[in-house]
Amino acid sequence: MSAEIYSSGEIRRGLATGIIGRKVLFYPRLASTMDTARQEAKRGAPEGTVIIAGEQTRGRGRLKRPWLSPVGNIALSIILRPDIAGLPYLVMIASLAAVRGIREVAGLKARIKWPNDVLVGGKKVGGILIENELKGDRVDYAVIGIGINVGLRAADHAGIAGIAAGLNEAAGKEISRAALVRGLLTEFERLYLALPEGGAVFMEWRDNLVTLGKKVTATSGKDVVEGIAEAVDGDGALVLRRTDGTLTRIVAGDVTLRKK
Ligand code: BTN
Repeated sequence: MSAEIYSSGEIRRGLATGIIGRKVLFYPRLASTMDTARQEAKRGAPEGTVIIAGEQTRGRGRLKRPWLSPVGNIALSIILRPDIAGLPYLVMIASLAAVRGIREVAGLKARIKWPNDVLVGGKKVGGILIENELKGDRVDYAVIGIGINVGLRAADHAGIAGIAAGLNEAAGKEISRAALVRGLLTEFERLYLALPEGGAVFMEWRDNLVTLGKKVTATSGKDVVEGIAEAVDGDGALVLRRTDGTLTRIVAGDVTLRKK
């Protein structure tokens, strides 16, 4: 068990951001930081408010999957009120902030599996979930959920053994969650402030994808498409070259990297 102090005071100590994390609400245990963030956003919480849970009892992932969120990991949601043109960039910003934060604080090379799985050594160490609330043609709020496995020992959990990892086991040492959250929020703000000009964010995200050039199986709703991941479009969609030579755009879904 970690002896680290993990609290809003500890996280805010030395956090030099202007917007992201100006308000940090820390709860030892929540059902999901997404729900609490949505309630706070509806009550008018300012942009950049961060909700952090020591553990989640009903953490959720993309595509309606459950997200394992025991004590020792990072589970947080950030409330944003972006321009509608900024929405496609939020997944890129969140996954890049995780990649940069992990590199800086844990010294590990992290990469991204399209669209926003964070991998270290080919195993999933983090994931991003984004929920937007629109009012007409403007964004009322967006909630950016970021989960990072830190203390998790994947081998102890049958469903994720072999495909997920915790940063402590990957680094061979204990990583400070408070320092990693600070790094993550700092990088998130840098990237967010680079909008509305999202070109640089897009290029860095694309350059950190492990997916391009690989044989993949993409699942989008009920459709399953196989091909080579050839490119990503500016809006984040994956462009697949099927075996018959035609191109397909996958806007939302999941990919599995296939062995050659
Ligand atoms: C995925 O890879 O499927 C996305 C996982 C997102 C998990 C985070 S943990 C913090 C926030 N609260 C949740 O319930 N989910 C997100």
